[in-house]
Amino acid sequence: TKWKGIAEIAGISLMADTVDNWSQIQTFKAKPDDLLICTYPKSGTTWIQEIVDMIEHNGDVEKCQRALIQHRHPFIEWARPPQPSGVDKANEMPAPRTLKTHLPTQLLPPSFWTSNCKFIYVARNAKDCMVSYYHFYRMSQVLPDPGTWDEFFEIFINGKVNWGSWFDHVRGWWEIRDRQQILFLFYEDMKRVSKLLLRDHWQGSCLRNVSDRDVWKNRVNVKTRFHSPQCYLHPQDPKHEIQKVMQFMGKNLDETVLDKIVQETSFEKMKENPMTNRSTVPKSILDQSISPFMRKGTVGDWKNHFTVAQNERFDEIYKQKMEGTSINFCMEL
Ligand code: A3P
Repeated sequence: TKWKGIAEIAGISLMADTVDNWSQIQTFKAKPDDLLICTYPKSGTTWIQEIVDMIEHNGDVEKCQRALIQHRHPFIEWARPPQPSGVDKANEMPAPRTLKTHLPTQLLPPSFWTSNCKFIYVARNAKDCMVSYYHFYRMSQVLPDPGTWDEFFEIFINGKVNWGSWFDHVRGWWEIRDRQQILFLFYEDMKRVSKLLLRDHWQGSCLRNVSDRDVWKNRVNVKTRFHSPQCYLHPQDPKHEIQKVMQFMGKNLDETVLDKIVQETSFEKMKENPMTNRSTVPKSILDQSISPFMRKGTVGDWKNHFTVAQNERFDEIYKQKMEGTSINFCMEL
């Protein structure tokens, strides 16, 4: 059967096959020990899934791979009989379950709000997200043709892409971050990684009093501080984000295991791993000869796509749409 393209629910664009599956999605019963990974598409969903899996399996790669083969995190989206939908898979899965969704807050099955379950939201800056989504649309054989970059730019800023507007999505989840058990992460923080070569300076006890915001405001000072003997731990270290996830999941892994997780979830490793690079997905769904699923994995690729005029226009639109929120994105590393 042919894929039916994009339809709308409550003004939000979704795959028509997801819309067809709407009643099953809306009546889904969340459980208190569920962990729901939530993202706008192309924000590092696969990355955070891998991190969560590795933490769950104490850094044991083989156990992690085996678990993935049995049940990759069910995806609350379309149904295409005779294949079971993500909802069917989730219903059959033993607790505790890790699930994933790209749904905006207003379309999330209501039981998630009352079940007291945990959420991990990963946000990625809109410009890189748009670029990544463009290449994903190009390779996807089930989404509509994205047209040229300039055409896709218009579609994206108007929120007429699958899963709706980036602005509404990120805003919606950001605004409720304190009302539910939500760990709100940024792709850019996860990626800030080894750039500043801080690994050897990991000193968890030094974190006190240094907020992420201070760090950003004083980037240069912080760099200097790191090279001094009394270095501060700060989010430039990839373990900082992984440690947050670990604590949120109620786990306690030692530093060697964390190091291993950092390595195993690096872009390079995940690009080679058939469980994460989507090479098992048929070409009739994802044609990786057009663009690989693990494409670049960087911050700032938007500069290779946006024209100066597009960038100015985008910044203006961003200002309007995100007015009044306190969220801040890093646009380059
Ligand atoms: P790019 O297209 O910019 O390369 P999702 O999993 O939500 O679909 O997101 C896919 C994006 O996350 C792609 O971005 C992909 O390369 C990037 N990504 C996946 N794993 C990554 C990792 N370990 N480190 C950095 N980026 C990663």
